[in-house]
Parts: sequence; structure tokens; C-alpha cells
Amino acid sequence: MLNFFQLLGLLGSLKGITADSVASPCVLKLCEGGGAEMINKSNPQQFQQFSANFISNTDLAQACNFASFAPTSESLPLQRAEWIKYLGVYANLEYKANQVYNAVKENYLCLARVAASKASSVKPTVAWMEYNDNIWSFTTETLKMKYVEDAGGENVDESIGKITYNTSNPDDLEQLHAILCTVDVVIDGTNTSDPTGYTMSTFVENVGVADTSCFAFLANQSLWRYDKRLQNASNTLDWFDGAVSQPQLVLADLTEALFPTGNYTTTYFRNLAKEESVVNITADMCDRDTSTALEPTIIPCS
Ligand SMILES: *[C@@H]1O[C@H](CO)[C@@H](O)[C@H](O)[C@H]1NC(C)=O
Ligand SMILES: *[C@@H]1O[C@H](CO)[C@@H](O)[C@H](O)[C@H]1NC(C)=O
Ligand SMILES: *[C@@H]1O[C@H](CO)[C@@H](O)[C@H](O)[C@H]1NC(C)=O
Ligand SMILES: *[C@@H]1O[C@H](CO)[C@@H](O)[C@H](O)[C@H]1NC(C)=O
Ligand SMILES: *[C@@H]1O[C@H](CO)[C@@H](O)[C@H](O)[C@H]1NC(C)=O
Ligand SMILES: *[C@@H]1O[C@H](CO)[C@@H](O)[C@H](O)[C@H]1NC(C)=O
Ligand SMILES: *[C@@H]1O[C@H](CO)[C@@H](O)[C@H](O)[C@H]1NC(C)=O
Repeated sequence: MLNFFQLLGLLGSLKGITADSVASPCVLKLCEGGGAEMINKSNPQQFQQFSANFISNTDLAQACNFASFAPTSESLPLQRAEWIKYLGVYANLEYKANQVYNAVKENYLCLARVAASKASSVKPTVAWMEYNDNIWSFTTETLKMKYVEDAGGENVDESIGKITYNTSNPDDLEQLHAILCTVDVVIDGTNTSDPTGYTMSTFVENVGVADTSCFAFLANQSLWRYDKRLQNASNTLDWFDGAVSQPQLVLADLTEALFPTGNYTTTYFRNLAKEESVVNITADMCDRDTSTALEPTIIPCS
């Protein structure tokens, strides 16, 4: 969530972070420089020294200086980004917050229009799927499905009978393979403790298939993960921070995945089929004064 603070230029007034790790160069720099400290969230009395605390888990017992901040409770990309206005009210930066949100929204809608025009002849079929404990499941999350639609794709689940496939079950495995033979783009959202080590062969192994010849997404090199930006040598992904406040970057990435130009460097997504590696985020990548606001990245769009 810290990207919201950066967009409003509030990092300078950030004094403590309860997360164990962050995937933001300038927050890391601030912590290393002693500007902000990591707080042990098991010790509630530590919070009382701050004038406001923002928490994203609304289930926690709330002290009076807690304000709930829950952009990820929203199921649509722009609604999540709109939470910057809520932060703006707390910080007396309503004007700036509206300005940032309007720029993000305008860019997102423009990119969606361009994607829709690319999709006018044929919509690529996209499988956004996760592997957990021998089970592959296709996403049913509104957020992810909306991103795919806005990028000009068609979600695979609109045409399949069921969502989960047990790879230990031969019938399931056969059906899973048949579905994957109809897919143009795969997004593998499998949670792993070691994103750096997750490659195309990890995917193929988890799908449990020897013959991948009917997989067009492999022939066409379109197998993606959203773990490109992470804190150095960790599994803390910027997908859960920067991508929430700047959904236009996610949409631009997905549009490139669905309609490759080869001319756009993605921010959050990396292509396993092209052996693209992660970007290790470190404090020395912070190239601006941490007290100034981060400008949202506006993608050229017309
Ligand atoms: C945080 O505080 C709890 C309770 O006081 C303690 O058990 C735990 O070891 C602390 N964690 C760290 C990382 O200091
Ligand atoms: C998957 O299938 C195997 C073999 O039939 C079974 O033992 C296992 O319990 C199944 N897993 C789930 C989560 O249903
Ligand atoms: C990913 O798995 C780890 C444990 O390996 C867990 O702590 C974390 O919450 C999971 N992340 C998500 C987004 O589910
Ligand atoms: C690869 O993609 C191109 C255009 O994106 C498409 O025309 C072609 O049929 C695809 N090839 C396979 C094997 O899916
Ligand atoms: C990144 O992590 C690796 C492995 O833990 C470590 O050796 C390296 O010093 C780290 N780099 C930075 C800049 O922190
Ligand atoms: C990122 O860090 C991991 C773990 O330290 C390392 O294995 C990998 O080579 C690094 N990747 C890049 C592109 O620096
Ligand atoms: C690639 O991008 C550059 C700069 O945005 C543009 O001038 C060029 O025409 C693009 N090339 C292709 C093949 O789209």
C-alpha cells in the first residue's frame, strides 16, 4: 500500500512500517537511512506514538488511532486506485489525490480503448491459473477477469465446465490438458517462496505433461507471472503494492502479453517462455528525494 503514500509525497512523514518486507526502492532507502522503522505488529502499544496508523486488515482489534485502509477489498482495478482519495482526505491533500487518480483513470480508460480495438478481429483466450497442493485452479476473481477483459482477452472459464483440476486424478489431468490446448496466453499466479527459481520448467512440471506440443501459448512464447518486481531475494512482490495504486501499468503489461509489439518493457509481468528474470528491488534503486511525490507513470496512449 506504500505506493499510495509515495504518490502523495507522504513518504517523509512515514515513521513506521509493520510489514516484514517491502518491494519499494525508496521505502527501503528510508528504512536503511533510519527515517522509518520496522514495527513489531504484535506489540500494539508501539502504535500509540504515531498520529495515524493505516491498516489494511480490518479484522484486527482497532485502537483509536487506527484508520482502516483497504484498497484490496475492492474488486475492480480503478476502484482500488481510487483509495488514494481517502488517504488524501487524511493528509489534507485532496486536490493532489484527485489529480493523481484522474491521470491514472484517464490513462487506464485510454489503454482499454486501444486494447478493445486490437481485439476487434480476434480475442486471445487467456487462462489465469494457480497451482496449489496438486490442484490447478482457474481464477474466478473479478479483479483478474476484469483485467483480462480490459486488455482485450477472453477468460477461459467462460467455456469450461469446472474451475479446479486435481493433477493426481487422470480424468482431471486429461481435461486440463485439453483446455490448455485451446489457450493463447497463460498467466501462472502460483504462490511460491522462491519466485526467482520459478521458471517455465516449473510450470510444465506442475502441469504434469510430457508432450507440450499442442500448447500454443508455449509455441507462441506467452507464459507469464506477475512477480517481476520483488524485494531483493524475497517473495515480497510489488504486485501487491505498486500495482494496486497504478492499475494502468498492469493493463499496459497485459495488453503487451495479449497483443505483443515487442516494443514495450513490462513492469509487473515477466514472460517465463522467454526466460525473463525477476527485477531485484534494492534501496539503491531509489533515484529521487523520498520527500517528493512520485509521479504516476502515464503510458503513451492515443
Ligand atoms: C514481536 O513481539 C512479540 C510479542 O512481544 C515477540 O514474541 C516477537 O518475538 C517479536 N518479533 C520480533 C521480530 O521482534
Ligand atoms: C486429488 O486426487 C488424489 C488421488 O485421487 C486424492 O488422493 C486427493 O485427495 C485429491 N486431492 C483433493 C484436494 O481432492
Ligand atoms: C504465499 O505463501 C506464503 C507461505 O508460503 C504465505 O505466507 C503468503 O501469505 C502467501 N501469499 C498469498 C498472496 O497467498
Ligand atoms: C501465435 O500468435 C499469432 C498472432 O498473435 C497467431 O496468428 C498464431 O496463430 C499463433 N500461433 C499459435 C501456434 O498459436
Ligand atoms: C540481495 O540479496 C542477496 C542474497 O541475499 C545478497 O547477497 C545481496 O547483497 C543483496 N543485494 C542488495 C543490494 O541488498
Ligand atoms: C535476483 O536475486 C536472486 C537472489 O539473490 C538472484 O539469484 C538473481 O540472480 C537476481 N536476479 C537478477 C536479475 O539480478
Ligand atoms: C517502438 O517504439 C518507438 C518509441 O515509442 C516507436 O518510435 C517505434 O515506432 C516503435 N516500433 C514498433 C515496431 O512499434
